[in-house]
Amino acid sequence: MSRSAHPAGPRYADVLPEGHYPAPPADLNALHPRVWSRTVSRNEDGVATVGGLDVKRLAEEFGTPAYFLDEDDFRARCRAWREAFGPDADVFYAGKAFLSRAVVRWLTEEGLNLDVCSAGELATALDAGMPAERIALHGNNKSAEEISRAVEAGVGRIVVDSFQEIVRVAHTAQRAGKRQRVQIRVTVGVEAHTHEFIATAHEDQKFGLPLAGGQAAEAVRRALKLDGLELIGIHSHIGSQIFDTSGFEVAAHRVVGLLREIRDEHGVELPEIDLGGGLGIAYTPDDDPREPQEIATALRAIVERECAAAGLAVPRLSVEPGRAIVGPTAFTLYEVGTVKELPGLRTYVSVDGGMSDNIRTALYDADYSVALVSRTSTADPMLSRVVGKHCESGDIVVRDAFLPADVAPGDLLAVPATGAYCRSMASNYNHALRPPVVVVKDGAARVIVRRETEEDLLRLDVG
Ligand code: LLP
Repeated sequence: MSRSAHPAGPRYADVLPEGHYPAPPADLNALHPRVWSRTVSRNEDGVATVGGLDVKRLAEEFGTPAYFLDEDDFRARCRAWREAFGPDADVFYAGKAFLSRAVVRWLTEEGLNLDVCSAGELATALDAGMPAERIALHGNNKSAEEISRAVEAGVGRIVVDSFQEIVRVAHTAQRAGKRQRVQIRVTVGVEAHTHEFIATAHEDQKFGLPLAGGQAAEAVRRALKLDGLELIGIHSHIGSQIFDTSGFEVAAHRVVGLLREIRDEHGVELPEIDLGGGLGIAYTPDDDPREPQEIATALRAIVERECAAAGLAVPRLSVEPGRAIVGPTAFTLYEVGTVKELPGLRTYVSVDGGMSDNIRTALYDADYSVALVSRTSTADPMLSRVVGKHCESGDIVVRDAFLPADVAPGDLLAVPATGAYCRSMASNYNHALRPPVVVVKDGAARVIVRRETEEDLLRLDVG
């Protein structure tokens, strides 16, 4: 692409190889429905609104940076998953994506179950009233305390992840005079097409017991012998931010293959399989994620086909979407502090947050989009890099973003699709105060997780 197409932009053509020069969007002021939550639009003054509330007012009331989460969108996505999978399946929301008491209440009301992977997530779930039998406990190294709290609470399932854990859970349950329902997490040997750090079904990694080589089958043998355990099924999670169904289909095929082997060896038909989470979402308008219905239809078809071929009754299916439910429902609102044009290089637009509220760009090289939301602009597109305020050059929020060339201090920028793995992975780096999560619904906004204060920080510092 020729440089003249971007008269106001920095000279990216000089630093990016041919063909890597992204094209500016046709309309810089557009808020693409694929990446923004359902109730986001612009009012007649050009200010973006969410649920009818204008972001300038929201910034005044709640400050920046802040996450704004659209409750109706969250609930609609829960219902879409439930309806797609139907009454013969369970949808477990993966709490690691983002969890709070309000989220637990919405899930409880919308008929979803909850996957937790730590004592803290379990405590939040129980505190907010999620019935224990609708909770699953995950993790590759659950502590003795986590196991005993889960067993005592009566969680519906613990997904065991190692030979040691099979014994630990069995002993804990026996001591408590209980029989704990468990699934065994297996790795099916699928290379999911996603970032290496979030792919989890290939064999060389810390999660699960491999099907290949027989460790998964051996885990089943051991679990079936222990009185403290009721083995209810097999679990597979192939990775995260995945756009095609083929990896899930291979996983389903292999998991059903294990069910057949178990039936042949032990005469037992396990009643459940869980195919994990991992469905991708749109971070930029170029991403084209699958809908829950499409995933549900593909998974059901393959499970039914494989079971018919193996002469097995179709087990109860469960899935564990996290990102696909909460990710698209929120955006992060920032204020621009400085704009630095480096002639011949690029323009750095610094906002008042950064890697402490969104580590995903630095950690996974994740792509995000961004828009000027406090006003519209007719200025030319300027290829920019939106960066945070942390003492680190990798503190990038959006690597390559087109913003209007007149973007200036005091403008508000919003980064969509930050509902998942942003607040939940936020840190206090540089003693940053983690931003609040503000829920917008029916024209009203309320804080569900408040902004941290210096007092919060200093309270932990007891030296
Ligand atoms: N089930 C299990 C067992 C999981 O380990 C995960 C995610 C999920 C379900 C939910 O996956 P989802 O539907 O949200 O993709 N921090 C990374 C993602 C790590 C995912 C860990 N496990 C990120 O920001 O991309």
